[in-house]
Amino acid sequence: MSTKEKTLRALQENGGYLSGEALSEQLEISRAAVWKAITALREQGYQIDSVTGKGYRLLSCPDILTEESIRGGLTGSLVTRIYTMETVDSTNNEAKRRAQEGAPHGSIFVAEEQTGGKGRLGRVWKSPPKTGLWFTLLLRPKASPEQVTNLTLFAGLAVSRAIHSLTGLPAQIKWPNDVVIDGKKVCGILTEMAAEMESVEYVIPGIGVNVNTESFPEDIAWKATSLYLSTGKKWSRATVLQAILREMEELLSRQEEKGTGAVLTEYRENCVTIGKPVSTQRGNIRLSGIAEDITETGELVVRQSNGNQLIINSGEVSVQGIYGE
Ligand code: BTN
Repeated sequence: MSTKEKTLRALQENGGYLSGEALSEQLEISRAAVWKAITALREQGYQIDSVTGKGYRLLSCPDILTEESIRGGLTGSLVTRIYTMETVDSTNNEAKRRAQEGAPHGSIFVAEEQTGGKGRLGRVWKSPPKTGLWFTLLLRPKASPEQVTNLTLFAGLAVSRAIHSLTGLPAQIKWPNDVVIDGKKVCGILTEMAAEMESVEYVIPGIGVNVNTESFPEDIAWKATSLYLSTGKKWSRATVLQAILREMEELLSRQEEKGTGAVLTEYRENCVTIGKPVSTQRGNIRLSGIAEDITETGELVVRQSNGNQLIINSGEVSVQGIYGE
């Protein structure tokens, strides 16, 4: 961690005023190095107050996605490496390229802008600079492909929990893993994986969150929202990212301690699709029913009006309901 990162983290953790002397002792660096770090942070847009006799206090963070701004507020040990990019085709593609070169479990890939952002079912995911959070987490779980399909649901739950804890809004999940606020989509997730028959090489949940988007094109405005549009205030994307990663880490350790079922119970409670009418296309046939449950491996259980049960796989088809896909 650089001196600048350490200084930022110390200010963030402290919350109040921290003297130059305390910082220099705590971080084991000279007073001159503290001053240099503070100057560099201010140049990046961090507002840091300084009061004689009291020291420095962090007033606000700029909305930038640098390694320091992300690492500064991270707790826990999930994130091992942070790759930030001004522009990239897709953070999922970058994660794959780096995974093949050996990037470790817990690497994250964050881009200001994606030129070829990918959505589910082969769609395009528009990813303009400055307003959204576009990132991918690289996981290397020791598990079979069937055992990790749940990770994609976990990512949706982590985002909904993060939004709820930051904003107080009831963010819910539209199966499999759109996050919605008042029925409008605020986040989409595309999970890809590389696996052999028996074991998974890596899984990459790619997460797109509309954070400070001020408006959407007319054709999607009725079904899309952003944290800004839903709360009336702008959010630091680094703070949102940190909150998501914190929640993801909590869910992964809960899974390790108590099993997948413990996480899925919370997923079901927050899944807005359950209890709603849904329909799906299989070949030429349109099937509809009421969504009843989520299986242990993350499929949607649907009861048709004739009493038959349908099990729908997330990769299979789009499900209509809430807003259609
Ligand atoms: C969807 O709802 O269709 C899924 C959208 C997923 C978008 C994210 S943005 C970061 C990552 N990189 C991509 O190319 N896609 C995902």
